[in-house]
Amino acid sequence: MKIDGRHYRSVWVDEEDGWSVRILDQTRLPWAFEVLRLTDAEQVAHAIRTMQVRGAPLIGAVAAYGVALAMREDPSTANLDRVCEALGRTRPTAINLRWALERMHAALHNQAAEQRAAAAYAEAAAIAEDDVETCRRIGLHGLPLLQEIAARKAPGEAVKVLTHCNAGWLATVDYGTALSPIYQAHDAGIPVHVWVDETRPRNQGAALTAWELGKHGVPHTVVADNAGGHLMQHGEVDIVIVGTDRVTRRGDVANKIGTYLKALAARDNGVPFWVAMPHSTLDMRVRDGVAEIPIEERDPAEVTDLTGRTADGRIETVRVAAEGSPAANPAFDVTPARLVTGLITERGRCEASEAGLLKLYPEKA
Ligand code: MRU
Repeated sequence: MKIDGRHYRSVWVDEEDGWSVRILDQTRLPWAFEVLRLTDAEQVAHAIRTMQVRGAPLIGAVAAYGVALAMREDPSTANLDRVCEALGRTRPTAINLRWALERMHAALHNQAAEQRAAAAYAEAAAIAEDDVETCRRIGLHGLPLLQEIAARKAPGEAVKVLTHCNAGWLATVDYGTALSPIYQAHDAGIPVHVWVDETRPRNQGAALTAWELGKHGVPHTVVADNAGGHLMQHGEVDIVIVGTDRVTRRGDVANKIGTYLKALAARDNGVPFWVAMPHSTLDMRVRDGVAEIPIEERDPAEVTDLTGRTADGRIETVRVAAEGSPAANPAFDVTPARLVTGLITERGRCEASEAGLLKLYPEKA
């Protein structure tokens, strides 16, 4: 996507040295646009753990480049096993991480050691390209949903979309998942307005989604996470579109904490609730999302504290919770398939069910 006229992806190999890995530091957005240079797998693990890079598809792609950096230093099988294991432990909920690492391991373990580094860079690049094309196609398959709503409205009246967290290009290699249809609609001249959930505790909505949409010129409004039900009751939401970190065999959806409450409110108000899912997010090995998907527990300080920019430009963290009160920080929740209107994938749209998924992905049976 373009930032001030220049095309960026969220991860790339440095053009000058041809091997180090560049990312945008998402902990600094929207206040500062900083490109980081990662030179070893430990730095990659740190970037994923501290959420300098985040979003399910992006952490998979960056981890793949982490394997490439490790193979450049030591292409032994022992190091390949070690780095895949270490990177796999950085974040537990998004299945894309394991998907990417398993793909890297499968591509490399039979290679001769002297070919592993080159093969690792090639496979990581293929994973990144796959994600770009997947997200572009999710946009194509989501666009008709917005076109249908626009067709029922008066000319010029905006399609009102609500989204949670950040499932835009910053969360993927390019285009995004949930935001991809929105960008396509906007670019096609369909008036769109996006309600952006702030997404406490880390504010990926207020900080990242709002920044992305603003840079692309998409009209949007940031709302408190608790505003969604009220907006739906008053006819202010035509459709909810969110991303996902893992979809189970029966169509349960793990996504950023608070997604489930949006799905409940959407069901109560007859608002369609769609989930944008790349193939790399489908985990056919689990069925019951609530029982089986590991939910990341993050630092309680993310709940008790808030970071922002002061009027004179300093980035400061302040405590908002009562001194001494403990906090809990489950980072994801699971929306049962019955609350999901459907899945938007790179192969088309389907019901959030085993039958629906197998129609689009018969090879996963
Ligand atoms: O904790 P994060 O910021 O990595 O969580 C991101 C989300 O929950 C996204 O909605 C999900 O990864 C899909 S991104 C296309």
